[in-house]
Amino acid sequence: VTCGDFSDKTVLITAGPTREALDPVRYITNHSSGKMGYAIAQAAQRAGARVILVSGPTQLATPAGVERIDVTSAQQMLETVMAHVKSCDIFIATAAVADYRASHISQNKIKKKDDELTLTFVKNPDILKEVACLPTPPFTVGFAAESQNVEHYARQKLINKKLDIIAANDISREGLGFNSDQNALHVIWADGDKRLEPQNKKHLACALLTVINDRYNNKKTS
Ligand code: C5P
Repeated sequence: VTCGDFSDKTVLITAGPTREALDPVRYITNHSSGKMGYAIAQAAQRAGARVILVSGPTQLATPAGVERIDVTSAQQMLETVMAHVKSCDIFIATAAVADYRASHISQNKIKKKDDELTLTFVKNPDILKEVACLPTPPFTVGFAAESQNVEHYARQKLINKKLDIIAANDISREGLGFNSDQNALHVIWADGDKRLEPQNKKHLACALLTVINDRYNNKKTS
């Protein structure tokens, strides 16, 4: 199977969760497995791309031929992405970046004390939005994991974040999405859309890349 021709293209991909420290022994994170991003990285590499994969903590093996850079927090992910974005043609943000981080990372272990504990959080940078708002951005692809009004919220993100494509997935659908091997996507761009039916994430990655290749070429020639 071909997923489009990505030879002489550099694709930068974020994947996995981020991990936000609270103190030297604790952190907050989410259930992202990184499987979708790694599947896209592998498929893009096989389709001829140079692939740079900026990965949060995952259990996954690096796909052959992919340049992987490990990061932990959202801030590290942003710095690493910004250091490589100028050389990339296409940016695909699959990472489940933590929306917030602790306002203050305690130097010492937080001690058990009262019955209630209150922590304060501050907003993390939106990596995808920062990339899409660069003066000369790469072709940008975002993901929208939604549990309701999927298409409506996805279209809002496409516009608000100034993306070329958004791939929406309905996380309320049983057995799909987060931490699963299967997923379905509703791929949306300014003047069209395509539904990719439930399938293995490796096959889905290829189907998504076919759409990306098509829209990328369309943008280049218009
Ligand atoms: O706004 P929301 O988090 O739903 O947007 C999801 C999309 O934005 C995903 O593509 C995700 O990788 C990206 N994102 C990001 N940095 C953030 C939050 C989300 O790159 N801080």
